[in-house]
Amino acid sequence: MTSREIRQSFLDFFASKQHRIVPSAPVIPHGDPTLLFTNAGMNQFKDVFLGKGKRDYVRAADTQKCIRVSGKHNDLEEVGYDTYHHTFFEMLGNWSFGDYYKAEAIEWAWELLVKVWKLEPERLHATVYKTDEEAAKLWERYLPRERIHYFGEKDNFWEMGETGPCGPCSEIHYDRTPDLSGGKLVNAGAPDVIEIWNLVFIQYNRTADGTLEELPAKHVDTGMGFERICAVINGKVSNYDTDVFTPLLDAIAAMSGHKYSGALDDMYAIAMRVMADHIRTVSFSIADGALPGNEGRGYVLRRILRRASRYSRNLGFREPVLYKLVQTLADTMGDVFPEIREQQKTVERVIQAEEEAFLQTLERGLEKFDDIARRMESHGLQRISGADAFLLYDTFGFPLDLTQLLARERRMVVDDTEFATLMEQQRERSRKARKIALQEVETLAISSQTEFTGYTELQTEATVLHVHGNQIVLDRTPFYAEMGGQVADKGMITLGGISYTVLDVQKSGNAIVHICDRDVEPLVGTKALATVDKRYRADVAANHSATHLLHEALRRVLGTHVQQAGSLVAAEGLRFDFPHFQKVSPEEIQAIEEMVNEKVRENIPVRTLELPIDEARKIPGVKSFFGDKYGDTVRVVVIDDTFSAEFCGGTHVRSTSEIGVFKIVAESSIAAGTRRLEAITGTGVLHYIAQLQQRINEQQRSYEELQQKLKQLEKELSKVQVHALTQQVQGFLAKARLANGGHLRVVAEQVDVAHIDQLKALGDELRNALGKQGVGLLASVVEGKVQLVCVATDDVKERYPAGKIVAALAKELGGGGGGKSHLATAGGKDIHKLPSMLQDFAAFVEKF
Ligand code: ALA
Repeated sequence: MTSREIRQSFLDFFASKQHRIVPSAPVIPHGDPTLLFTNAGMNQFKDVFLGKGKRDYVRAADTQKCIRVSGKHNDLEEVGYDTYHHTFFEMLGNWSFGDYYKAEAIEWAWELLVKVWKLEPERLHATVYKTDEEAAKLWERYLPRERIHYFGEKDNFWEMGETGPCGPCSEIHYDRTPDLSGGKLVNAGAPDVIEIWNLVFIQYNRTADGTLEELPAKHVDTGMGFERICAVINGKVSNYDTDVFTPLLDAIAAMSGHKYSGALDDMYAIAMRVMADHIRTVSFSIADGALPGNEGRGYVLRRILRRASRYSRNLGFREPVLYKLVQTLADTMGDVFPEIREQQKTVERVIQAEEEAFLQTLERGLEKFDDIARRMESHGLQRISGADAFLLYDTFGFPLDLTQLLARERRMVVDDTEFATLMEQQRERSRKARKIALQEVETLAISSQTEFTGYTELQTEATVLHVHGNQIVLDRTPFYAEMGGQVADKGMITLGGISYTVLDVQKSGNAIVHICDRDVEPLVGTKALATVDKRYRADVAANHSATHLLHEALRRVLGTHVQQAGSLVAAEGLRFDFPHFQKVSPEEIQAIEEMVNEKVRENIPVRTLELPIDEARKIPGVKSFFGDKYGDTVRVVVIDDTFSAEFCGGTHVRSTSEIGVFKIVAESSIAAGTRRLEAITGTGVLHYIAQLQQRINEQQRSYEELQQKLKQLEKELSKVQVHALTQQVQGFLAKARLANGGHLRVVAEQVDVAHIDQLKALGDELRNALGKQGVGLLASVVEGKVQLVCVATDDVKERYPAGKIVAALAKELGGGGGGKSHLATAGGKDIHKLPSMLQDFAAFVEKF
């Protein structure tokens, strides 16, 4: 069976047991602060279990995207080294919300596995919670006693997280040993006997203080590992040998030229498994609105991506490669999870950018790690100190678990306690450093001069001129000091074998002062290597060049009164203040954006000229800033001879296409007659889109919830209305006319209902009330049309069939309808004929 067929047959099976099939929730649990990632199918029903929420169904089933890389359920370290743990997997699940319980959960699990999927019953084992005799008894219907095993809290009491719904569970394990000898391997972590399905009997809530609270109702929550069941059904030992993974492995094999051997200890096979697993986690997280970053969920993602990137290197990749696998994911999973197709481009770009940034330092970091490891080994030590791990983190962007991984490959361990202490100290230091940096720059006695090399290079070898605490002055530097609204560069200075992170750069006289994250060794006169963070610089440059384009576009769209009154150019975006006496309208903003983006797409080379000031002033349309002091020669940045020329000392892109795309995100007034525009470019726009997407997803969810509530309310309202209507029925009987010489009672009334269903319900009510010898007609005008229901009591329905009567009436009203002889409905459009029809109904029936 293909994985697609297996997934579908699971859903079909539970649909046939009256389960509502629901979509997977996002892997990012928007709105549950207790979770970083969705880790089980039941997450989206947490409120129902806790008695805080309701659905309009009591049984549900789905396939849920799950990620287990943090917190209580964490399988990260296993991945790659075995064939059945994943960071991302699909969980097939079925639920009962206070409806069925243990007996049905067990019966249906058995039926699906053995009758539908035809697993050999001899291979199945069940585990139950140590005191759960009820579950054990139920299993005895299907399994001999020796294949029912008791376990304690660790294995058979399932909890969602530190807090939340929980309860005893019963797991189904599958024995793959050839001779069925696997009984003793249940829960032993052996690949020969694996858990395939967990049936949780949710009864409690674990509260923050650790106590168990009884829930208002008992529920069933099951979860089956989709990738595992695909392997089991198809007789594969490894999940990676199923068609869930083979397309990814094939793609990796094609790109790397290494065949996937499947062996557990083959370095290439491990790397391929890691890549195939991790790309799913990272891609679905980004598609659901997360982004790699430095904290929380973002940092977890970054670590996973870097782990995968590191392994890709084992296969010989030296360039970004993971992002290319997103295509395969979109092809193979896009039908079931359309978000991966919709977000494909964003996902690819974000991954590629992350890979690029990491690969830049990876190579050097790995060399550094080798040095460290060799040094330790030469001392007979099998450990990496916390300080070295911290150096790798701080200087080369190695997350701790990457260092641990490298250490493990050399049979070494890492001192993670020391590492944690150093991390905390660093946080403290940068908080302080930032504060004192600006005050102290001035006090640094400087008569020296720094040559700025950063227009042409991002790495410069230089000589140390001064050191003062955490401040350092070099004779040459590629670091741009904060100036003219452009923020300072970030990066790293290495001297005496130590790397310092540069937090800020300020100009003081003719010297450029670097402010570092900690005190610098005072090695005046020695060589230092100054390296600017390339990505950060690129983002700032994109925003600076975009500022120039914006400035000119504003003048062309709003008028030449626009002049720069203030500006900020940062990595995240830009701000531009200018005199203007009214709000910039949405149409104007659109025109400005279009003009700038037009220039971006034209891919115009950005030229810089150094000219004597008199000559520079002659450039047509050149912008200089009133009040700024300029030297004898000035730097002019030109973007398209006929578009923008500005006196400017900032750093810029080489060509406008590097700006990527330009977007204005805010317009406001900062003082009378002064407007402010805020805009973003390239990477900033990507982040912006991802956030928007996240917000849309959240709104979509609350919209759907509202819809559901609305439906529920409508149903309830309808019930109330019908009840109110039935009160009228006795009144109708009192007004009944007699026909057929007094033998037949005929009711004909117009009523006011909201929906044809209500009319039918009322018809039923009338028929019951008539009891015998009665025919009734109820009419209502619903949405501009006449709706009719005709009823006849059982004893007269052959003689006066409601279906035929109502069909004849509907014809007169220019419509149609019919039905059974005891109750039938019809509709028509000629409303004006209704009063006489009701009036004449008794006569009509008599003649029928
Ligand atoms: N919620 C249960 C699990 O994740 C089914 O194993």
